[in-house]
Amino acid sequence: MKKYLYIANWKMNMPLLSACSFYSDHQQELERIAALPHVELVLCPSYVALSPLHALREKNSHIYLGAQNCASHNQGAYTGEVDALSLAHVGCTYCIVGHSERRQLYGETDAVIAEKITLLGQYDITPILCIGETQEEAMSNRTHDILSVQLEPVLKMQSIQSIVIAYEPFWAIGTGKTPSFTELSILFNWLFEHACKHASWLNVRLVYGGSVNASTIQMLKPLPFIDGFLIGSASCDFSMLKNIVE
Ligand code: PGA
Repeated sequence: MKKYLYIANWKMNMPLLSACSFYSDHQQELERIAALPHVELVLCPSYVALSPLHALREKNSHIYLGAQNCASHNQGAYTGEVDALSLAHVGCTYCIVGHSERRQLYGETDAVIAEKITLLGQYDITPILCIGETQEEAMSNRTHDILSVQLEPVLKMQSIQSIVIAYEPFWAIGTGKTPSFTELSILFNWLFEHACKHASWLNVRLVYGGSVNASTIQMLKPLPFIDGFLIGSASCDFSMLKNIVE
């Protein structure tokens, strides 16, 4: 049976205590849905919640932990940054990089994002690389060009074995809008072929993000070449997350 990745991106919407009670209040149910044969569940809380959630996890937990970002350096005078090794120490096996909010609000470039991916690879943390175009770029039929540029440094890397590529059109994040089934079919078909052509050695999984909820998931799941979903606001509500995953 095909396994779908369900990545919960809690952003800065879950303060530490809310993240811990979300986990402990629903631990049994979270474990149950995470163990379903078609599911791989990744929770991405804030940096400070990673260690407590790691400690709360049972020994053979099916729930994976991911960070929302990491530093583009291993060590040094980088005030406020968190290195990939520390993320590995608090149980992260995934890390989101290049989210559109990081690109737009913090000026992250494709080169900086590529540095982060290289470092994550050193600690066996699978990068979840977010790519996507703005509404304006989509309207002027530049989506494939924009995505090619965002993917270029990463698809040249020989130092990583696996990656999750999350297609998240900027205009679909937190807006309730999603591209149509046909648009996404064309896009995922293109992404699949692009990755095969430029990085055949790489284990690539393709996920979609942007206003994923219990109703959009019905339309999204049958998409060809889709391996999972990156879920923002709906993942902060346990019953919504459960409905999406189940
Ligand atoms: P959303 O966010 O599901 O709230 O649209 C997705 C994301 O930003 O990863």
